[in-house]
Amino acid sequence: MKYFLDSAKIDEIKYAYENYCIDGVTTNPKHIKLSGKSFMQVVKEVADWIREEGLEGMEQFPVSFEINPHLEKWEDIVAAAKEVASCSPNYVIKIPCCAQGLIAAKKLEKMGIRTNVTLVFSVSQAIPAAKLGAKFVSPFVGWKENSGDTADYIRDIIETYKKTGYTTEIIVAAVRNGRQIGEFAAWGADIVTCGLEVYEASFEHPFTDFGLKVFREAWDGTAKE
Ligand code: E4P
Repeated sequence: MKYFLDSAKIDEIKYAYENYCIDGVTTNPKHIKLSGKSFMQVVKEVADWIREEGLEGMEQFPVSFEINPHLEKWEDIVAAAKEVASCSPNYVIKIPCCAQGLIAAKKLEKMGIRTNVTLVFSVSQAIPAAKLGAKFVSPFVGWKENSGDTADYIRDIIETYKKTGYTTEIIVAAVRNGRQIGEFAAWGADIVTCGLEVYEASFEHPFTDFGLKVFREAWDGTAKE
């Protein structure tokens, strides 16, 4: 299963790439706001870093950008998507899963601009994303679980895609902890996307700390020569 970083902070992206082997990046308007930079500044900065790092190529390191979420007509969504996609061969355009969004995604895929159909909360939303040939689909599991619902629809999407032979890759998004990461890996999700702090917390375990304490005590109580 691939690990994408959910962030628009260039320092975090560089750090996670250098130290934790992340396979790609997802952003959203909240992350752009948190970066403290303008939208186009982040788009250009990440494109420059991809080039400097020699990571050019969609298959090598995809980066998803969400365009202006106020756009409602597919024609406007397509125009805005084209502008961002032209900045890097690695850029994937996040398109909200709604009737006009799906029309825009289909047109973009036809033009060779790859899409990530986002804000997906049901199997019936994930199916049209795959049918139109979106590169990615992003079900938002954390939001669903926070509302008191379960994450089971992720398993249903994975199974439906497998049975039908859809090739759209599933990015399980808004992942909040290591338990979820393990669960989605076992279910067969292609990718998870998390914040840096979620990944770092998932690398730790209280028994690892306990084990280290036990081994340190044994080490200290043993002759070294
Ligand atoms: C994924 O592509 C989204 O950017 C992200 O996971 C949204 O959720 P969050 O910002 O609440 O984590």
